[in-house]
Parts: sequence; structure tokens; C-alpha cells
Amino acid sequence: MTQIGIVQEGPDEARVAATPATVQTLQKLGYQVVVEEGAGERSSYPDEEYRQAGAQVVSVTDAWASPVVLKINAPTDAEIARLSDGATLIALLSPALRPELVESLAQRGITALALDAVPRISRAQSMDVLSSMANIAGYRAIVEAAHEFGRFFTGQVTAAGKVPPAKVLVAGAGVAGLAAIGAASSLGAIVRATDPRPEVADQVSSIGGTYIPVDVEVEKSADGYAKATSADYDRRAAEIYTEQAADVDIIVTTALIPGRAAPRLITASDISLMKPGSVIVDMAAAQGGNVEGSVAGERIVTDNGVIILGYTDLASRLAAQASQLYGTNVANLVALLTPGKDGALTLDFDDVVQRSVTVVRDGEVTWPPPPVQVAAAPTASAPTQEPTALAEPQKMSAGRRIGLIVVGIAALFAVNAFAPDPLPQHFTVLMLSVVIGFYVIGKVHHALHTPLMSVTNAISGVIIVGAMLQITDANPVVQVIAAVAVLVASINIFGGFAVTRRMLSMFTKGGTQ
Ligand code: NAI
Repeated sequence: MTQIGIVQEGPDEARVAATPATVQTLQKLGYQVVVEEGAGERSSYPDEEYRQAGAQVVSVTDAWASPVVLKINAPTDAEIARLSDGATLIALLSPALRPELVESLAQRGITALALDAVPRISRAQSMDVLSSMANIAGYRAIVEAAHEFGRFFTGQVTAAGKVPPAKVLVAGAGVAGLAAIGAASSLGAIVRATDPRPEVADQVSSIGGTYIPVDVEVEKSADGYAKATSADYDRRAAEIYTEQAADVDIIVTTALIPGRAAPRLITASDISLMKPGSVIVDMAAAQGGNVEGSVAGERIVTDNGVIILGYTDLASRLAAQASQLYGTNVANLVALLTPGKDGALTLDFDDVVQRSVTVVRDGEVTWPPPPVQVAAAPTASAPTQEPTALAEPQKMSAGRRIGLIVVGIAALFAVNAFAPDPLPQHFTVLMLSVVIGFYVIGKVHHALHTPLMSVTNAISGVIIVGAMLQITDANPVVQVIAAVAVLVASINIFGGFAVTRRMLSMFTKGGTQ
């Protein structure tokens, strides 16, 4: 049984890589778990809770000596030295930004897996710690802003006078931005958001924000992340930021383009237009900042009384929640690496997720991995076409279309003329249903296709009617088949409605998930 060690983080980090609940998940995968004394203290998980969950609480040396070590932040040189030979380390390693760390890990002859290198593909969502941490950080950015802001977020009419709602601008509507929009709008603020990806407009409005488009065409990305914006785009966006700065009370910036310094969005002259007491949270402060004058990890107050927060530990400020989500993400990765659920960690390089996260394998540097194509946006179907036509399906020429219609009608007549009765009748009904179905379903929004499909399960009603007509047949075999048909079709119908109900409740405020 392999031992997994959960080690304590440095003094600036309140999170821990496993909670008592995720320790149990790891044990179910066949591992023995040891936790460094006091590792969960700052995220409200005392040693006693780990013991109750079945883990052993051990010294720092013993935790680091485990064959598999789970951590949050990248290890220091002293910590790397504590790892045992051939160990596996799973943590946030930023391999693209820290080649010297990758080198030190390789020299130690270990295997290092970077959780921050999980590709943005649907299958890997359960391990995507960057998204779960950004979600928490976006929420916390609004909590920090609300804490600094000397007024309500929501508008009120009180006996002492009318209070206007706060106005919030969120720049960048990715994971963190959407969490910030949701948090601010649920506190009652008027929320606006910008993002170069127009496809986020629906997401912004679905959580109570208003999307401000920058009417300049932007290149689409194929990997789920944004591309660098054009000079034209930046010019128009800068005008919008200047207009908005003069109007809003809170700005949260989350703009990020992977592998680049954060784009500068809010200038000092924009900030000079803001009212005293306004708050800016620059979530990208650690990557150079979206806001002129922000300092990573610091709270700054400008000459005109605007507070700029450049905190880089927003997720750690919600440590219990962040540890729980991080712990679940890491346990999901360990589950992927333990296909036999037998406490034996294996690495399969044919699996794109396992390949992507592996930075060092047995002392050999395997970073960078081959690029992963993520179908987050439609990719170019014909590279020679104009960019605007890329995302559209290829149109059929008018001649070809008319030709196909003529052939179809001729085939229908041929079937009707020569096929024995009652085939022509059934065939005509089938053809008409295909045409009607095509146009009806084509008009339904993509997001509603699943509920639509489950409602169409009600078509199983036809099977029930047929089966009920047969159930009185004298032949017992026919009776049994009819009874089974009624049962299976009923499950299909009721199951369909249950799924529909659940799906539709996701579109209702306050519905179940
Ligand atoms: P993401 O990739 O999901 O979202 C970034 C968004 O920025 C994308 O929607 C992108 O289209 C947008 N964007 C790119 N260029 C832009 C521009 N010029 N103008 C406006 N929007 C633009 O990234 P995620 O996960 O939401 O992270 C956002 C930021 O928050 C990152 O900088 C990340 O490092 C930071 N972060 C900070 C934390 C903290 O404690 N301060 C904690 C977690 C994340």
C-alpha cells in the first residue's frame, strides 16, 4: 500500500492539499495517508479531524519522506531535498514560468506532476484546479472590494433617504470574472463586464451582469483561452474603460492571456476620474497587473482616494473552501493515476491529461507536453477562407441544393409507385417527420437540446399504447413482451421528465443544480 504525504505550506499560504473528506477518498483508492502535524490548522481542519478520517498525523520529515507527496505551492529547495528517492510530487509548479524549478526537480530524480498544467478539456474539468481556485478568487475579490467600499452594494429606499446601488465593472469574463460578476450582482450591485470573447455575453447576462461589447473583431482561440487583442481592439476598449471609470464605484480586473504578461487595461488617468472611496481589485497583479500602479500583494491608496488591491492570495483568504476544492481536484487526479484502485500510482503517457501534467518523469524533463487542441470554440474548417467565414458551416451551392431536392422528390414518387402497401404511406410519414423535426430542433437553442431530447422521450408513449393493445393477447409470450415494453417505456418517459425538470431548474434563479 503506497503512502501519500500531505505536507504543510509556507507561512503565506493558509490552504492545505487535502481535507479530512478528501483523505477518505484517497484511502478508498488504496493509499495510506499521513498528514504533517498542523498542516490543516489555518484552513480550519485540525489534526484530530484527519485522525478521525483515518489518516496518521506525523512529523514534517515523515510526511516529506512519503513516496507520493501532495502540496499546493511549488516546493522550496530545502523541501525538494526532503523528498525521498523516486518520489512523486503533485503541486502547482508553473513549469512554463519556472524552468529552474523544473531543473531542480529533475536533478532530484523524482516524478513531478503540475496540477496547473491540466488541459482545459471536458474530461479533465474535475481536476482543473486553476478554474476552481479562480472561481473562489473571483468571489473573494468582490468580498474584499465590499469590505473596503464605504457604501452598500445594493440600492435601498430608507427613512433616512434613498441609497443608489453600487456600480461594478468586471474586466475579463473568464472563470474568475464570472464568479466576481455573480457575487457582485447577488449583493445587489449593477454589474457590467467586458471581454474580447463575444461568446461570453450570454454567460454574463445569465448571472445578472450586462456585457459591454467592444465592436472590433477578435481572433478566435482553439484552446479555451483568449488570444492577444489587436491594437484596434485595445484602442476602442481603452475608450470604454475611460468612460466606465468615471461612472463605476468598483473595478475588478481579471484579464489574462496565457503565457504573456497581463494586458494593461486601466491607466492612471482612468483612475484619476474615479470617485474617492472607489475600489479596484487587480486580480492579475502577480502577472504584471491589468491596472497601472497596482502592486502585487499590496493595498495602495491613490492621491484621489481610490483603493487598489493587488492581493495575490485571494483563494487562500477563503482557505477552508479552497482546500476542499483543491483536495477534490487532486484526489480526482490521483484516481486517474490509480486505475486499479489498488494504491499503485501509474503514469500512462498515452492519456493526454497524464501527459500534460507530467513535468518530470523519473528525473527526465518531459515539459513542455505536446499541445492539446481544446474544442472550446469552433476551429477553422478551411484555412484559405476569410476569417469571418471560418466558424460558419460550408454553404451548399444553389444548383446542388436544387439537384438534391429533385432527386429526393423523384425517389419519393418511385417508392410510392412501386412499393407494396402500406409501405408508401409509412415512408411518406417518416419523410415528413424528418423534415419537420429538422426545422423544429434547428430553431431550439443549443443549451436546451438535452431537455428537448428528454421530453421527446415522451414519444415512448406510442410504445405504451401499442403494448397495451397487445397485453390482452391470448399468447403468454406476447403478454410478457408487452408488459416489459410498458415497463421500459414508462421508465424512459418518467426518467426523461425528471432529467428535464433538473435541467430546467438550472436556468431558474435559486433552482437545484
Ligand atoms: P481565464 O483565462 O478563465 O479568464 C481570463 C479572461 O480574460 C478571459 O475571459 C479572457 O478572454 C479575458 N481577457 C483576455 N484579454 C483581455 C483584455 N484585453 N480585456 C479584457 N479581458 C481580457 O482566467 P481565470 O482563471 O479567470 O483567471 C483570471 C485572472 O485571475 C488571472 O490573471 C489569474 O492569474 C488571476 N487569479 C488571481 C488570483 C489571486 O489571488 N489574485 C487567484 C486565482 C486567479
